[in-house]
Amino acid sequence: MDFSAKILAWYHENKRELPWRKTNDPYNIWLSEVMLQQTRVAQGLPYYEKFIRAFPTVHDLAAASEERVLKLWQGLGYYSRARNMHATAKIIVDERGGSFPDTHKDLLKLKGVGDYTASAIASICFNEPQPVVDGNVYRVLARYFGVDVAINAPKGARYFKALAREVMSIDNIRDYNQGIMEFGAIQCSPRNPRCGSCPLSDSCVALADKRIDELPIKLKKQKIKNRYFNYLVLFDKAGNTLLEQRKGKGIWQNLYQFPLIESEGELDKELLLAKVISQKKFKEIKSLDPINEEPIVHKLSHQHLYTRFWKLKLSHTLNDGISWKNIIDFPVPVLLADFIKTFKF
Ligand code: ADE
Repeated sequence: MDFSAKILAWYHENKRELPWRKTNDPYNIWLSEVMLQQTRVAQGLPYYEKFIRAFPTVHDLAAASEERVLKLWQGLGYYSRARNMHATAKIIVDERGGSFPDTHKDLLKLKGVGDYTASAIASICFNEPQPVVDGNVYRVLARYFGVDVAINAPKGARYFKALAREVMSIDNIRDYNQGIMEFGAIQCSPRNPRCGSCPLSDSCVALADKRIDELPIKLKKQKIKNRYFNYLVLFDKAGNTLLEQRKGKGIWQNLYQFPLIESEGELDKELLLAKVISQKKFKEIKSLDPINEEPIVHKLSHQHLYTRFWKLKLSHTLNDGISWKNIIDFPVPVLLADFIKTFKF
């Protein structure tokens, strides 16, 4: 037996009796799949039952008030999903006479329906051979085939989708898709999988290599770091300003910037002035005033820069001052380029 045949055999022996497994109606499958994207079966089941009791058909959902829909969704989270379903139900009723699109391609055109939901509805309701890839499927495939491509990297999503398509059962996609998800939820669970009683254990790569606990691989999300930048926009006696080159590794290496004082948190004028004075870089300080009261938040992939620009007037003339008309010749980070453009000194 190949992989998909084993999954199907396991599913027929072990599947749970669930209300959405008694029907192929796309409305019921749509609702169950949207709910199951954010909760486990046990937590989602009472919500599904309440919702179907309140709105037995797509016509009932379309006719409902948004408050009622959201109330029934309360506690599930991701409320935009409920709002999208409500909006989509109205479109299905108003524009399609209540009937759902019956292909993966057309299902994808519905608001809030992504690849996962379109694949689930197309396969379960219309037997279209489209593989579903949810967290359970990632885990089963990564372990069984010993894949160590990270599941949350862009390459991972493509890799696993292609693998899922290669190994799916074309003849019984309806049961196969539900089977592999059910298998992942019950047999090949994240922690303490039941490898001792697993029908795939003979040929499971992760089990043979003792890598069950390692797979699937997920890249750690880097925590966003907040940084506080205070740029000193200088005006010396001659009306010139100053740019310095950023040294060292890290963001914006070798680009130019106004003299920067980075701090642990936001600084008020008095604290910043004290820091400027203690640096002893500028001899005769005339005044220091904020240019933007609220920090500009510049978002990079792993850091948010809370940025304030301060006008620092000097009573003397800088040796290495730069005239404002020459400032555009220097390569500067976009954050500074935007500032220079906006504030036009
Ligand atoms: N998880 C999400 N959808 C599922 C389904 N149809 N069967 C089993 N587990 C699921």
